[in-house]
Amino acid sequence: MRGNGRWQIAIDGPAGAGKSTVAKEVAKRLGILYLDTGAMYRTIAYKALQEGVPIGDEAAVSALAEDIRIEFSADERVWCDGLDVTEGLRTPEVSKGVSVVAAYPAVRRRLVELQRAEARRGGVVMDGRDIGTHVLPHADLKIFLTADPLERARRRWLELQRSGKNLTLEEVAQDMAERDRRDTQREMAPLEEAKDAILLDTTGLSVETIIERVIAMVREEYR
Ligand code: CDP
Repeated sequence: MRGNGRWQIAIDGPAGAGKSTVAKEVAKRLGILYLDTGAMYRTIAYKALQEGVPIGDEAAVSALAEDIRIEFSADERVWCDGLDVTEGLRTPEVSKGVSVVAAYPAVRRRLVELQRAEARRGGVVMDGRDIGTHVLPHADLKIFLTADPLERARRRWLELQRSGKNLTLEEVAQDMAERDRRDTQREMAPLEEAKDAILLDTTGLSVETIIERVIAMVREEYR
């Protein structure tokens, strides 16, 4: 059996399918790194909004992505150019803008380069939209998480409620549908299930059950 320092696990899927919650916990239980690639795209959108760069200005957003510094600390905080931006990444404004900036080829090229560099450091669980298809095409295990759209919207709405953001369920459902549409239809590395991925429909499953199923797949893979 190969040591976990070389494991590569890719988890992809649409918004609200439970990827980050599950990927984070699976990485912890396996003792390997977790990389939240969605947070990296969100950081680009956040910085553009902060600096007054219009989200639709591809050249300006691409230039901003070129020399951005994104770091994750062990306490799960995200740092952009030395500042803790964690709280800013899940606002409705960032959620609206992120799939626009994520469609810019220069932004994707830059972030994929950083993601692959992280994967070279050791074993990793990476979650996103294009990990199994593009970032880590040779990952040992690829999982595609889905869930019924209404349940995905409900999960995200609950999360937002808990953090004090009062959007209606309809608003959240609409924003998510729009983001999924952009992610699926963009030209470069769209959201798509890899041919060799295992599909896991999480509708009606508790977080613990999903984690256990993923861990069982990992055990099977590295037996
Ligand atoms: O948590 P949630 O699934 O809602 O989204 P996220 O993982 O934080 O990703 C936010 C957005 O970043 C997605 O809607 C995509 O537009 C983009 N993204 C991407 O294009 N490629 C990735 N590997 C990860 C995220």
